[in-house]
Amino acid sequence: MLRDKLRQTIADAAGVDITEVQLEHPNLESYGDYSTNIAIKNKLDAKEIASKIPGASVAGSGFINITLSQDVLLSLISNVCDMPDIGQGKTVIVEYSSPNIAKHFGIGHLRSTIIGQALYNLYKTLGYKTVGDNHLGDWGTQFGKLLYMIDKYDLVDYDIEKLEEIYIEFHKLAENNKTLEDEARKWFKKLEDGDKWAREIWHKCIQISLREFDRIYDLLEVKIDHAYGESFYEGKMQEIIKLAKEKVAIHSEGAWIIETGHESPLILLKSDGGTTYATRDLATILYRTTEFDPVKIIYEVGVEQTLYFAQLFSASRKLGLVSGQVELVHTKHGLYLAPEGRKFSTREGNTVKLDEVLEEAINRAKTLGCTDIRTATAVGIGAIKYFDLSHGIQSNIIFDWDRILALQGNSSPYLQYTHARIMSVLAKNNSPLSFPSLKLREGVGGELNPEELSILRWIYRFPEVIEEAASRYSPNLLCNFIYELAQRYNTFYNKHPILGNEFRLALTKSVGDVLKKGLNLLGIEAPEKM
Ligand code: ARG
Repeated sequence: MLRDKLRQTIADAAGVDITEVQLEHPNLESYGDYSTNIAIKNKLDAKEIASKIPGASVAGSGFINITLSQDVLLSLISNVCDMPDIGQGKTVIVEYSSPNIAKHFGIGHLRSTIIGQALYNLYKTLGYKTVGDNHLGDWGTQFGKLLYMIDKYDLVDYDIEKLEEIYIEFHKLAENNKTLEDEARKWFKKLEDGDKWAREIWHKCIQISLREFDRIYDLLEVKIDHAYGESFYEGKMQEIIKLAKEKVAIHSEGAWIIETGHESPLILLKSDGGTTYATRDLATILYRTTEFDPVKIIYEVGVEQTLYFAQLFSASRKLGLVSGQVELVHTKHGLYLAPEGRKFSTREGNTVKLDEVLEEAINRAKTLGCTDIRTATAVGIGAIKYFDLSHGIQSNIIFDWDRILALQGNSSPYLQYTHARIMSVLAKNNSPLSFPSLKLREGVGGELNPEELSILRWIYRFPEVIEEAASRYSPNLLCNFIYELAQRYNTFYNKHPILGNEFRLALTKSVGDVLKKGLNLLGIEAPEKM
């Protein structure tokens, strides 16, 4: 990649190691395309270093600014969509979505699904072997509560609505009746011990839930490689429990716990001998490391589980489940807030029906003029995804239909529209466009105009942005990048005729390719027509 070549050139010129050279893009483009403070940091002579680097000049402060020549900019554009293969031979596991059986697919799980899929795509395009896993919440004490209620009411027929209703009712009843939690625990124990009826009901709950989840995944066009789910680890927990008891677990008030240096310990086994969410997560880590040998495991899970993941990660290191080289990452996405700034909530039964939200997005896309259902779906669903991804992962998002579907500003319909317009320009062109072999300057007659140059000085950053978006778990960097590109392109488009000019057509094609690839990496379709 250009950036790394440049870093090497600077390192050689300054006589330092490449790892010391940091390159930034100056905020003002008049300062150049890259800038480095290497001379200041190492108290070296900036002028002398700059004299050895093409396009370099020294700013008063001692920063070395580098302006890429038009030839360099032109040479970069032809393979701007080729990504550096930095992940070759390495595996990354991205765990995402992970909704809970017998509950509605929540808005938090929507965030996880959207962000997780984008991270998965980003790592994949950088050459990593990526493994996606949907860690379904299909095991645990909540099933004890459901079994207790289903048994109590002799329920035969139920859907998710009903299951959620009796779950909420259980908690209300349990407030005044302390024995209910024990009853639920007993039922969960029965399930764990293989009770036939309990297993049947559990299976039925899974079937009901998966039907709903699959409908949502279909709408979102998301396919996750695996959905092992918590129950997959049922038979794999004994190994962890044994290991933990031998190595680090402490017997405390009947339970087995692991001290992790955080404010509370991780519970390995409850006092009734039942396993926990954490026991299953430890078994999951062991399975993942042995099965896939990853360099990194990304947990795309909300900020509310921050303490839990800190405990889990320390416990798994203490147990030696992961070597020091393996990175464990909790992305901590922020909450969705209702328009008045309230928390979207399911606990008090004030449910957000996700499929209704998605349907609404598609209907609103129709009012934007997307007449066929395929385009309306691409635009409506794309808008929801982009709105989510254009926020920093860890910030909260206020749900705002007007901004989600805006045709102007940093929104997906705007980008899709720009892309579709590009496609229609290219469709009008009859002469062959032999990009990338095309000699870019043909037809320009020398100097590029400022609008063309402004595109060239932005578009070459695409691979850098992808790398940064992946390594910082920040798809919003990619959103900002393609939004800025679309704006620059539209300024150019409004000012200069394109048809009949081979260079401008080629430039148009490149912008179209980058917009499409950028949107696709975010999990968003780029329709040819809108
Ligand atoms: N099912 C969980 C929830 O909805 C999320 C799972 C997170 N992943 C994990 N490995 N614990 O809260």
